[in-house]
Amino acid sequence: MNDNLTLVDTARLVLHDREYDFPIITGTEGEVGIDIAQLRNKTGVITLDNGYGNTGACQSAVTFIDGEKGILQYRGYPIEILAEKSNFVEVCYLLIFGHLPNQDELDKFQFSLTHHSLIHEGMKKFYEGYPPSAHPMGILSSMVSSLSAFYPEADYNADIELNIVRMLAKLKTIAAFAYKKSVGQPYVYPRNDLSYSADILHMMFAVPSEPLEIPKVFEDALDKLLILHADHEQNCSTSTVRMVGSSEANLFASMSAGISALWGPLHGGANQEVIEMLEKIRADGGNYKKYIELAKSKDSKFKLMGFGHRVYKNFDPRAKILEIAAERVLNLLGIKDPLLEIAKNLEEIALKDPFFIERKLYPNVDFYSGIIYRAMGIPTNMFTVIFALGRLPGWIAHWKEMRETLGARINRPRQIYTGETKRHYIPLSDR
Ligand code: SDX
Repeated sequence: MNDNLTLVDTARLVLHDREYDFPIITGTEGEVGIDIAQLRNKTGVITLDNGYGNTGACQSAVTFIDGEKGILQYRGYPIEILAEKSNFVEVCYLLIFGHLPNQDELDKFQFSLTHHSLIHEGMKKFYEGYPPSAHPMGILSSMVSSLSAFYPEADYNADIELNIVRMLAKLKTIAAFAYKKSVGQPYVYPRNDLSYSADILHMMFAVPSEPLEIPKVFEDALDKLLILHADHEQNCSTSTVRMVGSSEANLFASMSAGISALWGPLHGGANQEVIEMLEKIRADGGNYKKYIELAKSKDSKFKLMGFGHRVYKNFDPRAKILEIAAERVLNLLGIKDPLLEIAKNLEEIALKDPFFIERKLYPNVDFYSGIIYRAMGIPTNMFTVIFALGRLPGWIAHWKEMRETLGARINRPRQIYTGETKRHYIPLSDR
């Protein structure tokens, strides 16, 4: 057990007229959990928790979320402060190594990221096999898994820091090359003189024959977006990374699994769905009230994408920061995006509507992020790719933490079987 946790009490379970005591542990922010590691051994029964909403899968020191108070902290630092004062490379270091780097640590980390950003030239051949319509998230997941073919020594017990740097440095190149492939343009290689965020935009939007100056407003906005997406404790994709890594699969295979989980429209794919929803509302005469009613109707199957969250039950602090950032970027660029007006109208109506209030549905991180990506000229099918670039340090931090946790076990949940009881085989001739 983590020595930061205190064992203060026990929980008593009464089952089949017998009493069982289980230890209660309290985390450093006061979260309380019942440690049921011995439940089945002691009682013969298991718990059942559809979607794991009440189940702590691990102990972690990476990120703290208080869903009721809208608190999000990376290694103890509030997201609002990091979004305002830090930068994405520094946040990567903080999440992965647990402390803010000093100047020497940051310089060395930045140098490593800069000098590992190329991918093996052989990987370019993989892009040629994809149709232009291939979704870049599918390309990203395959390319990341393929990194283990070029770094076979990257098994679970390999030089973790070198492979972490390789993963962080190469994902933006893999992502930008996927975009170039989709628009039929030549690849633009990473530049050592650009920041992480500026280099992403340069590789996406420059052409080899013409230098491109990345506007500072874009570089800063993207860097803030990456910081805001960098980690979020045991979300679906991070839990996937931990699940895959628990079998001692290598770093690249584990990150590839995280990318696949993030792709889903209920998770990281929501940012693309939000813009497509807003565009549908705009095409429908901007009648956002109609879509609020659709979201409230069980039969419509329509969800207000970018709304709701399993953990945040008052507001997602990231959404608040992104709403302000979206207004700022559009004002600086002199852009009036009708989709932002529709988004703000949806939010205003929903926050007063009992349906949303009762279900504690508020804008989440995906609701405004797409407005900013659009302003930068990033196409909607790349939105979740940018989310993956942001979330990568979080996935790595959790993978590394699990690997370094004494006594970490392969994840293997149980089930309640509801199928057929034992029956006899009937030969085909008798069926
Ligand atoms: C992310 O976990 C993380 O931390 C994720 C994330 C991260 O940083 O990693 O924050 C990133 O994935 C943000 C979420 C992005 N997804 C969306 O915006 C998709 C739309 N939202 C929903 O699908 C939903 O709100 C979830 C998936 C986010 C949360 O789902 P839950 O917790 O399982 O909630 P639920 O589906 O049980 O909903 C509870 C009720 C239901 O109504 P009732 O059956 O009680 O009548 O609220 C309704 C739902 O129908 N509801 C919605 C809704 N979300 C939930 N109704 C309309 N529109 C919505 N968006």
